[in-house]
Amino acid sequence: MASGSPPDATVASGAPAGYEISVCTGEGARYRALAGDVSAGLRSVPKELPPKLFYDDEGCRLFGAITRLDEYYLTRREHEILRRVAPEIVALSGAGTLVELGSGFSDKTRLLLDAMAAAGTLEGFVPFDVNETALRAAAAAAAEAYPGAATHGVVGEFGADLRSIPRVDRRLVALLGGTIGNFSGPERRKFLAEIAGLSSVGETFLLGADLVKDRSRLLAAYDDAAGVTAAFNRNILRVINRRLDADFEPLRFTHVATYDDDTQWIEMWLRSEGAQEVHVRRLDLRVSFDDGEAMRTEISAKFRPHQISDELAAAGFAVLGQWLDGAGDFSLTLARRADRSPP
Ligand code: SAH
Ligand code: TRP
Repeated sequence: MASGSPPDATVASGAPAGYEISVCTGEGARYRALAGDVSAGLRSVPKELPPKLFYDDEGCRLFGAITRLDEYYLTRREHEILRRVAPEIVALSGAGTLVELGSGFSDKTRLLLDAMAAAGTLEGFVPFDVNETALRAAAAAAAEAYPGAATHGVVGEFGADLRSIPRVDRRLVALLGGTIGNFSGPERRKFLAEIAGLSSVGETFLLGADLVKDRSRLLAAYDDAAGVTAAFNRNILRVINRRLDADFEPLRFTHVATYDDDTQWIEMWLRSEGAQEVHVRRLDLRVSFDDGEAMRTEISAKFRPHQISDELAAAGFAVLGQWLDGAGDFSLTLARRADRSPP
């Protein structure tokens, strides 16, 4: 971002500090992508739904509720690590601008921004998320808390819009919350290589990743007693009903979470209770479900610490440090964009 003229506040009249928001894709193109993804997913075997659909406003609210569940240890553990090592990460990184991918409401991010502000190095904050409401809230809160920094939110999609991230000097890109686990192995290689590609040599990347552990704890984190994760999972059907004029009856689908030791990932499914037919009017598509037929909605891979370092190295990063919480549940890894491509 050019220093000099302050960015304009494009929303939130009366916002106490300026910030800028870019929206990468217009409503029409977003709708076409959504229609294509849902159509392909409902025709594949087994049926599958595109996980980014989870994150409408209600989905973001439900995800926030998940992060406060007893069973969902991830957020608390990552927060614990950041509370302890944010100043060290900031010093090793030497960054002036924090770019956060999949920022959501950017709650934990405060710990990094505070450490940058305390070190006197904070120049900018770039939250990036597919949900515009959460993005605007995160940008407004940051602009108010750090009036001396340039806040520029980007509403975009990991798969299409990383190039819209402003090219300012000395960025630290952060991907927190275990979101990396929502990519399969090949998708992860591609995504990490894209992040490396958008970083200049010397820029840094901070990755939060959940670790392999006792399967009962893993399963409980994705199938809580209060049913919040089940509600989050079913919300994807409400999003499709609204956007594509479909008639899914969410309560006729049961939330199921499984863990596979070989792939090291949780799978989230919606299982049809009884045989049923769903009409997706805007796609002119009738889809039938057998009794017990399950549709996959999301995966959440778990890692061993060395595996994270290996994958980062393969993408062109040199690891600077790795930290776990006291219980060894979750990891943060900081890496620098290396000056040579990997062999
Ligand atoms: N970083 C936060 C939120 C993690 S939840 C935390 O650690 O708690 C994942 C976030 O990524 C959500 O805010 C969601 O809206 C966003 N997201 C999911 N899929 C996305 C995609 N394909 N492109 C951009 N953002 C996405
Ligand atoms: N990034 C989160 C994770 O893998 C997303 C998540 C948490 C999620 N609970 C979920 C996705 C339930 C689908 C269903 O932990």
